[in-house]
Amino acid sequence: MEIFDRLESEVRSYCRSFPTVFDRASGSHLYDQAGREYLDFFAGAGALNYGHNNPLFKERLIAYVQGDGVAHSLDMATAAKGAFLGRFHDVVLEPRGLRYKVQFPGPTGTNAVEAALKLARKVTGRKQVLYFHNAYHGMTLGALAVTGNAAKRRGAGVPLSFTTPLPYDGSATVPDSLAYLAEVLDNSSSGVDLPAAVIVESVQAEGGVNAASFGWLRRLADLLKRHGILLILDDIQTGCGRTGTFFSFEPAGIQPDLVCLSKSISGFGLPMALVLIKPELDIWSPGEHNGTFRGNNLAFVTGAAALDYWQDDTLAQAVARKSEIARGRLQALADAFPALGGEVRGRGLILGLRFADPDLAGQVSQAAFRRGLIVETAGPRDEVLKLLPPLVITEDELRQGLDIIESALDEVAASVQMLEVAV
Ligand SMILES: Cc1ncc(COP(=O)(O)O)c(C=O)c1O
Repeated sequence: MEIFDRLESEVRSYCRSFPTVFDRASGSHLYDQAGREYLDFFAGAGALNYGHNNPLFKERLIAYVQGDGVAHSLDMATAAKGAFLGRFHDVVLEPRGLRYKVQFPGPTGTNAVEAALKLARKVTGRKQVLYFHNAYHGMTLGALAVTGNAAKRRGAGVPLSFTTPLPYDGSATVPDSLAYLAEVLDNSSSGVDLPAAVIVESVQAEGGVNAASFGWLRRLADLLKRHGILLILDDIQTGCGRTGTFFSFEPAGIQPDLVCLSKSISGFGLPMALVLIKPELDIWSPGEHNGTFRGNNLAFVTGAAALDYWQDDTLAQAVARKSEIARGRLQALADAFPALGGEVRGRGLILGLRFADPDLAGQVSQAAFRRGLIVETAGPRDEVLKLLPPLVITEDELRQGLDIIESALDEVAASVQMLEVAV
């Protein structure tokens, strides 16, 4: 690690949680330079839903590069982009009865969020955007202004303005923030100016794996529709099958005005992002929102290949099965270690185990790493152990990872007991 300590910025973070030098990766595993194998329950923070170096996409990528396919093209028309668009329409949009135009912003999630916020303000001519406590939408200024975390917001160094936070579904202290929102919107003397948009995650991922109910999402969508406020759904971490359906919002039966996708849309961990725009809202003028890396053709190639997984419901059913296995096991662990105050949360294969003492999630993550499992923490105080295995993980691998979590919990519970005895 010496070269990283010496030459890389202090801003680095995941390499501090998982201090080894990784070298190779395949399927659900990473390998470090010493040849040690790690099971990956982190999956590139949701960028590797189809696993590392998925052979189905790798072959097509290698063939494309070997054939001198265009790699970089700004937003010029290329065969690879055309093929991706056609496949996305045929496999994802049309079967779901969704009509969206596709914008390719810069290739990261925060680029998609910036584009969506900008377009919502342009369409409505209004400035305010509402967001939710514990939301995470990215690190650029616009996205930070709709992100909850105080430390991240402080990093902006300038005021983050024209945004207002609201409690999310399931808030312990404000059980129905939508009732409040309805009241201020319905009352023209409420003193609250009509916002341009509301941006929401259907499961707050970084915010601690908080899943909104489908009923709450429907109420939100209906309320906004009544007032001509746009709904931006950030499906950057929860899209591409993570919650069990291609889009996380499908079971809620809503059609957001703008949808942000990134992370696993390229399938291979290559940078790519897009904004889905209801056609009547697509009032951009040419070049109004730009970016050098909007045309990552390598990502278009692997992204088109990844959609093969969505030609039928085989993957969706497998995710539902694996979710049940993982959820059941996490609940059993929470019950077996009552002193840790564990609470299971999440949907599909984004699952969390929240601890009463926030330090414990990090301790379990570290104990798991020592045993060869990569699993992260999330939440305002990092109090949630967040499980994000590749969707294509085998059931055996999933069980192995859960066994490691059990063993890590054993270690942490034993040290908690020792502390209690000492006190
Ligand atoms: C919901 C959500 N939105 C936006 C982002 C930002 O994406 P990126 O890190 O690619 O800018 C993330 C990243 O974790 C995310 O989880």
